[in-house]
Amino acid sequence: MPEKTARTDHPIHAILASRWSPRAFSSQLLDNETIASMFDAARWSPSANNLQPWAFVYAVRGTQDFDVLCGCLKESNALWACNAAILVLALERPSKPDGSPNAHARYDLGQAVAHMTFQASALGLHVHQMAGFDPARACASLGIPADLLAVTILAIGHLGEPSSLPATLQEKELATRSRNPVSAFVHTGRWPNHVV
Ligand SMILES: Cc1cc2nc3c(=O)[nH]c(=O)nc-3n(C[C@H](O)[C@H](O)[C@H](O)COP(=O)(O)O)c2cc1C
Repeated sequence: MPEKTARTDHPIHAILASRWSPRAFSSQLLDNETIASMFDAARWSPSANNLQPWAFVYAVRGTQDFDVLCGCLKESNALWACNAAILVLALERPSKPDGSPNAHARYDLGQAVAHMTFQASALGLHVHQMAGFDPARACASLGIPADLLAVTILAIGHLGEPSSLPATLQEKELATRSRNPVSAFVHTGRWPNHVV
């Protein structure tokens, strides 16, 4: 298995350090309690005015619904993501209940997904988020109401073997993870006092 744990400059929580986005998923399915636990983590995420402007539709591998979601992915994602245990369509509600725009809806959806991802990691699972899909097709084929926008599809499951992937993807799976240094995006006091 590739060594993907983040090489941090300072200590961070082990669950955060060990999270990464694989393409190889094992054939193991998830039990209902595990799935419910991830969505409960999303539920308890903070949101602006507690509007909770998110919704999710998930499907389990081996079902027709899963194949429909899988069919909405770009080919480059479908190649590997259709082996995940579940696929989850993540949806944003961009309007407040009074009809005015909710400027923080997407921020809040992202945060709910982050909570879900953390819970998945705590349960020994991996999540790979994808923007590479056809939102219009997903909404039409899943009967999504017009007040919701499809933002991402998440592939979730147990880690698989890199050797299960096509050769071109094995290289990506084994590649070292990298990030900008904290000093590139954190300032102290005022801009541009980069932290060192
Ligand atoms: C909003 C969003 C969209 C993404 N879309 C895709 C995608 O379509 N295909 C893909 O392979 N990875 C996708 N990713 C995964 C990123 O490429 C990945 O998170 C990033 O390279 C960092 O790698 P890590 O998650 O392993 O740390 C997406 C991630 C996010 C948050």
